[in-house]
Amino acid sequence: MLNFSFENQTRIHFGEGQIAAITNEIPLDAKVLVTYGGGSIKNNGVYDQVVAALKDHTWFEFSGIEPNPKYDTLMKAQTIIKEHGVDYLLAVGGGSVVDGTKFIAAAALFEGDDPWDIVTKQLNINKALPIGAVLTLPATGSETNTGAVVTRNGHKLPFRSPVVRPSFAVLDPAVTLSLSDRQISNGVVDAFIHTMEQYLTYSVNGKVQDRFAEGLLQTLIEDGPKALQAEHKNDLEIRANIMWSATMALNGLIGAGVPQDWSTHMIGHELTGTYNIDHARTLSIVLPAVMKVGKESKHDKLVQYAQRVWNITEGSDAEKIDQAIEKTEAFFINMGMPIRLSDIDLGASDIDVLISQLEIHGMVALGEHQSTTLEISRQILNTAL
Ligand code: NZQ
Ligand code: ZN
Repeated sequence: MLNFSFENQTRIHFGEGQIAAITNEIPLDAKVLVTYGGGSIKNNGVYDQVVAALKDHTWFEFSGIEPNPKYDTLMKAQTIIKEHGVDYLLAVGGGSVVDGTKFIAAAALFEGDDPWDIVTKQLNINKALPIGAVLTLPATGSETNTGAVVTRNGHKLPFRSPVVRPSFAVLDPAVTLSLSDRQISNGVVDAFIHTMEQYLTYSVNGKVQDRFAEGLLQTLIEDGPKALQAEHKNDLEIRANIMWSATMALNGLIGAGVPQDWSTHMIGHELTGTYNIDHARTLSIVLPAVMKVGKESKHDKLVQYAQRVWNITEGSDAEKIDQAIEKTEAFFINMGMPIRLSDIDLGASDIDVLISQLEIHGMVALGEHQSTTLEISRQILNTAL
């Protein structure tokens, strides 16, 4: 196992009715800015629950944070923050709202000229406004982690800092019942691929991390498709298992002490930045190709994945790997996801632009061995055609 330091101090309130917990989480003398997206929270009762919990607080609101949140939108919140002396942010929404709020929190206390430098220069920021999160879409893990992804002029880029990790997060599976099938699928597959990017590398004998990861993958394989079936549409136990899996997939636990490979995400970000494809729908296209191109470098972990996650016991190692890749693709298809560039009407002629975006963004040595050069990324995209 590799050396690691692990910390995750986000307090989690899990279960039905837990939105009420924000009353005691946010100091009564705080000036709170409630941030949210396009309005789903007004149709499913979440907004009303937040308003009830904040009835004795002083609060303001900022809406319109779009999926794949944009710098220009997020900077508009700074005016309200300055005008009212806001000193606490409450993000109510999916990963985009939580990520966007992290950027707002960091930008509010940024002392340089342009807060975009936080992202492009990967600055070590040491202060941000405190954040609480009410999660409405289990997917990204953003509600308890230190990362965020922000887009400016088609450049979709991540940043991370411990100071933007939410102080608390409310995870109420009941609020996910209003999700469309498309967003349920996106969430399940995003969480699945977060797990894979911290698992499918090379073995360092991290038994706990591996078995935690395999448990998350199997839970998502078992309950993900059920969440789409009419007879299970209102099953809160299924929603609870998906929600907790998504948080656990990217709260730092399974990635501590093991190598990681975020190449699927970094290539996927270029597909979103350039063609505005939903985040998870880029990943379901790229991951199978990463597995195919990585058959040698990821050989042992691919065999372990085949045996332990899919219970494939027959055949040679190479056959097990092929079957595991086929089963992964079938799972994505079952979840209604695209698995090829052609499924989203992209083709060979689009690959040059994606490669040049990767180059512009410095994504030239990806993967657990930093050996995914632009040439390998091209091979991955060609394999995904
Ligand atoms: O904006 P509203 O009206 O709320 O609608 C949203 C949005 O249209 C809707 N939605 C959310 N909760 C709902 C709901 N609709 C009905 N009922 C509910 N309960 O869903 C749509 C998509 O929301 P979004 O927040 O964009 O989805 P997601 O949670 O998948 O977040 C994706 C973003 O997170 C980033 C992605 O890159 C992308 O920008 N990621 C962040 C990570 C992190 N911070 O660690 C890691 C991830 O890999 C990911 O990159
Ligand atoms: Zn993701």
